[in-house]
Amino acid sequence: MIGITSYGAYIPRLRMERTAMFEAMGWFAPALIMVAQGERSFCNHDEDSLTMAVAAARDCLAGLDKGAVTQTCLCSTTLPFLDRQNGAILASALNLRREIVTADFTSSLRAGTTGLLAALDGVRADEERTILVAATDKREARPGSFYEMWFGDGAASVLVGREGVLAEFLGSYSVSYDFVDHYRGAGKRFDYTWEERWARDEGFAKIVPEAVRGLFEKLKITMAEVDRFVFPCLFKAEQKAIARSLGASPEKVADNLHELCGETGAAHALLMFVSALEQAKPGERILLLGYGQGCDALYFRVTENINRLKPRRGVAGSLANRKSSGNYLKFLKFRGLIEPEEGIRGEAPTQTALSALWRKRGMILGLKGGRCTKCATAQFPRMDICVNPACQAAGTQEDYEFADRKGRIKTFTGDLLAVSDDPPAIYGMVQFDGGGRFMADFTDCELSGLKVGMPVAMSFRRRYVDGDRGFSGYFWKAVPLTGVAAIDEIRFDGRVAIVTGAGGGLGRAYALALAARGARVVVNDYGGTRDGSGEGSSQPANRVVEEIRSLGGQAVASYDSVASVQGGENIVKKALDAFGRVDILINNAGILRDKSAIKMEEQDWKAVLDVHLDGAYHVTRPAFRAMREGGYGRIVMTTSASGLYGNFGQSNYSAAKMALAGMMNTLKLEGQKYNIKVNTVAPTAASRLTEDIMPPEVFQRLSPDYVTPLVMYLASERCEDSGFIVNTGAGYVSRAAILTGPGTKIGDGQRIPTVEDIRDDWEKINRISPGKEYVDAGSAIVSLLTTQGQTPEQPQAALPEPGGVGEVFRNMAANFQAEAAAGLDLIFEFQIAGPGGGDWSVTIRDGACRVEEGRAARATTTIIMADEDFLKLLTGELDGMKAFGSGKLKVEGDLMKAQLIGKLFKIKKP
Ligand code: NAI
Repeated sequence: MIGITSYGAYIPRLRMERTAMFEAMGWFAPALIMVAQGERSFCNHDEDSLTMAVAAARDCLAGLDKGAVTQTCLCSTTLPFLDRQNGAILASALNLRREIVTADFTSSLRAGTTGLLAALDGVRADEERTILVAATDKREARPGSFYEMWFGDGAASVLVGREGVLAEFLGSYSVSYDFVDHYRGAGKRFDYTWEERWARDEGFAKIVPEAVRGLFEKLKITMAEVDRFVFPCLFKAEQKAIARSLGASPEKVADNLHELCGETGAAHALLMFVSALEQAKPGERILLLGYGQGCDALYFRVTENINRLKPRRGVAGSLANRKSSGNYLKFLKFRGLIEPEEGIRGEAPTQTALSALWRKRGMILGLKGGRCTKCATAQFPRMDICVNPACQAAGTQEDYEFADRKGRIKTFTGDLLAVSDDPPAIYGMVQFDGGGRFMADFTDCELSGLKVGMPVAMSFRRRYVDGDRGFSGYFWKAVPLTGVAAIDEIRFDGRVAIVTGAGGGLGRAYALALAARGARVVVNDYGGTRDGSGEGSSQPANRVVEEIRSLGGQAVASYDSVASVQGGENIVKKALDAFGRVDILINNAGILRDKSAIKMEEQDWKAVLDVHLDGAYHVTRPAFRAMREGGYGRIVMTTSASGLYGNFGQSNYSAAKMALAGMMNTLKLEGQKYNIKVNTVAPTAASRLTEDIMPPEVFQRLSPDYVTPLVMYLASERCEDSGFIVNTGAGYVSRAAILTGPGTKIGDGQRIPTVEDIRDDWEKINRISPGKEYVDAGSAIVSLLTTQGQTPEQPQAALPEPGGVGEVFRNMAANFQAEAAAGLDLIFEFQIAGPGGGDWSVTIRDGACRVEEGRAARATTTIIMADEDFLKLLTGELDGMKAFGSGKLKVEGDLMKAQLIGKLFKIKKP
């Protein structure tokens, strides 16, 4: 079977209201009122037929293997070069392979269907071929003419091949005549047209039926076997009349899109065809006509594959993405039909160094940058030395395509001084997802609508026109995305993920979702029984790998048990051998051996800890190593409500599951420097682990698919948090955390509390609200120390000194609380940085205090801070714990002794 395997389209965002055109030119050509309905599409100042063809072809190829394309057919009557193959520019912009045939089909409005016929012939002749057809046109018409109203700009693209055919080609019939209803002579800008009535009656009305009848005879079919008649025709009444004469009822005739975008020349037959395919159901039969110096008639049958095509912009998406304009002068300016003064700045030389263009063609036409094979840092442009300051490896760059990567606006500006066809010139820094950034011109946007962080997509545009030499220069610009287009999917393209226990249940759901979003996945599963006893099996992992592959994803199976050091090493090695890196690890493998504590035998206790806790250690360690080398990592641990809150009969499981949260708490600190984020999911889902624990009606509502989105987010680059525990199931998501209550001071802090003190204050000790969360143990300890001597009801009276840091130390001896210093012998050293800072040492000995400027020879505890932070700490503006956690307060030496400072000195309010 041969036919259409994919399609795409592009209609520029700008639409000219026909009423506004009439208002501008109606005084001159009153008859324009007859066609002044709806709007026509028109190119932005940086678009032409080639940029539109690239956009439509990218839409057609989205998500497909570009490497499979063996030939391109570019069809248009308005290509920018007469002698420089435009199709070769198209192939370069798409980064298609080098061994490819490129051809331009031109000189007739029928070029679109003729290119398609050539592609179908090519694929029929050689089963290895996959041919991309792109039809596009941006035709000019004289201001104040009907044609200016009728025409529109646009492009459509189809892929022709044998695999995954969504519209089977069943046959064609063509007639050719030198029938000249209009022509565009060499070097002329506008068409010369003959009388419309004659063009209709002698052309459309005779040549079209001849081609259709020829096809029907050849294929032995009638109009009864046509469900959709796709037939571009400027004249709507004529279109209906011809269809009627051929026996087609009006519902069969596809709308000519006149009111939505106008007639897009050589692209229009394919544009209408793509629109028909977007609405088609399997089994539908489509008759497609291309008209111009004769007529091509092609017959297709839509297959089930139409439902498998991934969503794309297409005609419907292009029509929805519109900006209507009533500014006719802008329309004329963008088409070069008026020449407003640009000033001296507009005279900048535009000559293109063809040698440099050739050398840098990948970068300029294909937006290729580089990526370091050592540290995976992406950069634009590609250079000899890696830009990552921690890497700086030389000669390690490989090509890296930026065009299809989403980015975000990092900075932008609107420049009214720079020469622009549509001032202000808007440009700024784009940060790409997956790394790399570059300064780009922005297009298809308004300055007032831009925000930092807004998603952008890259678009191939005309950068300049060198009118003197007849040269159009192209490069890529950023298009800020709004509305539906702004939905920026979280993707894992280029990432390698390991999911343990992925042969079933939650792990399988994670593996499928990761692969569907572009990750290459190691599907690990030992394949044992629910309680982990007995032999393993390769089947569960193999089944999931097959499932992923059948859906077009990439995966390999691993059958190792996580319960041994060697198993963990093997799992990670599998990822490195198959895919070269590890970016994501989901520690998910699990078993259950439920028994009450008294009945819990050692082997049940150990088996559960071996898989859940030790298993996570075995895999995480080598994976962490690989992630550190790559400078990136996302690890997801799996805990459980049983661990977080307890569950009867699961002491082994609860212990293991809670231990994983502890492991995460430390790994989040160790991974910080290497951009490795570690988080923990507490799922609730229907699986073989829970089938006999949950009532059937609850079990039904708990598909693992509800858990997957959260885990995908935690596994993604977008997740910048580390150390979080998140509960999820049945569509509910909530964070769980370890909180510490405000506590209370018992006694005066000097006396060791008695057991009875604890009993008496139990309620206060017990309070959890207002709870605090600590980023690490150090912060928790410092908090404990700095709140010593206070209760929450009596906040510390540390107040500022008017004379800055020096004054604090000059008054320090006066503020000394001798009674709190009994038996103490220690030296505090303060190193206060900044213009108001200095070094001081405070010696506490024999109940006395001595403050000296300068450092101490042997300090017990050294406090290091900036002057401003130090003062803020004293006023209470800066929280001691937070200052310590963020590194603003550093403590060297005996950390525990720092707690005494608050008690030893009472700094008075000035
Ligand atoms: P499941 O039994 O469907 O999946 C666990 C998978 O891990 C199985 O395919 C099993 O073959 C595999 N596995 C067991 N031991 C292994 C080993 N030594 N090496 C490699 N693979 C091994 O269960 P489910 O529910 O999908 O569980 C996934 C994770 O989620 C487990 O860690 C579980 O403790 C946890 N969890 C699940 C909850 C739920 O409601 N389903 C609740 C809380 C936590």
